[in-house]
Amino acid sequence: MLVHIKEIAALAAEKKCAVGAFNIHNFESIIGVARAAVEANSPAIIQVSEGAIKYMGIKPITHLVATVAKNIAAPVPIALHLDHGRSFESVFECIRAGFTSVHIDASNLPLDENINLTQQVVELAHRKNVWVQGEVGAMVGGHGDLHGTLKEIPIASLDDVVNFVRRTGVDTIAAAIGTAHGVYDNEDIRVDLVKSIKSATKIPFVLHGGSGVAEDKIRAAIKAGVNIINIGSDIKIAFCQTLIKQCLGHQEETDPRNLLQPTMAAVATVVLDKMKLFGSAGQIKVQRIET
Ligand code: G3H
Ligand code: ZN
Repeated sequence: MLVHIKEIAALAAEKKCAVGAFNIHNFESIIGVARAAVEANSPAIIQVSEGAIKYMGIKPITHLVATVAKNIAAPVPIALHLDHGRSFESVFECIRAGFTSVHIDASNLPLDENINLTQQVVELAHRKNVWVQGEVGAMVGGHGDLHGTLKEIPIASLDDVVNFVRRTGVDTIAAAIGTAHGVYDNEDIRVDLVKSIKSATKIPFVLHGGSGVAEDKIRAAIKAGVNIINIGSDIKIAFCQTLIKQCLGHQEETDPRNLLQPTMAAVATVVLDKMKLFGSAGQIKVQRIET
């Protein structure tokens, strides 16, 4: 069922687990996330980037997610969120389309400009009962990048994050804490920083760059107060590797469905594993009617 993201955040806080915010790129990945959520009895956040919106269109995405949440994922809560919205126009489009949460990512701007733009988004969004995620300290890396070493992974300053949250009134906060977008072998999590941010701001902390981070670090971050974990690259990689294998193995195939069918299962497998790791699996008590 489609719910406001605040219901999912409240559940994560109550159960002391994290809920995955999964980037979707096409119809198959939406279905993959929905099937995993149902199999795991877990809530899920379906998030879309500006790139995904450009690819699929805002209306098709909104309607597809709503329909899939209502039907395939009827027993579990699903929320729709904009990931890394870079402009006021971008978040406005999603608010108008019915998203219950938007990320305004102005972390590449000087802090004062970031605060200024985020304040404008909060003012509009809160009038429409939409949650806003803000970000401090730009994330490095690239979605879908595989197995490299980053020269440097910047870390946000605690004072900047606390100041940003107080001045903007955002509902959730993301900050650079040692992870990166993509899969790199030197990703880390500054658990001490997460704890300090959490105790100073009291709002849900969103961990970006969840792919490629060691499982024990993810567990420690959840214990320290992370409530939402973004997963993008692992989904993209599973989808592409499966599709490439299918295409190479069935070069005479003429029915696209036969090539694409296994990609849904590949996405679902990745998402299901994350739900187990994040502790969100099994948190929704579904009454199954025996027949
Ligand atoms: O905003 C999306 C994420 O932070 C995804 O990061 O590609 O490393 O999983 P990832
Ligand atoms: Zn991110």
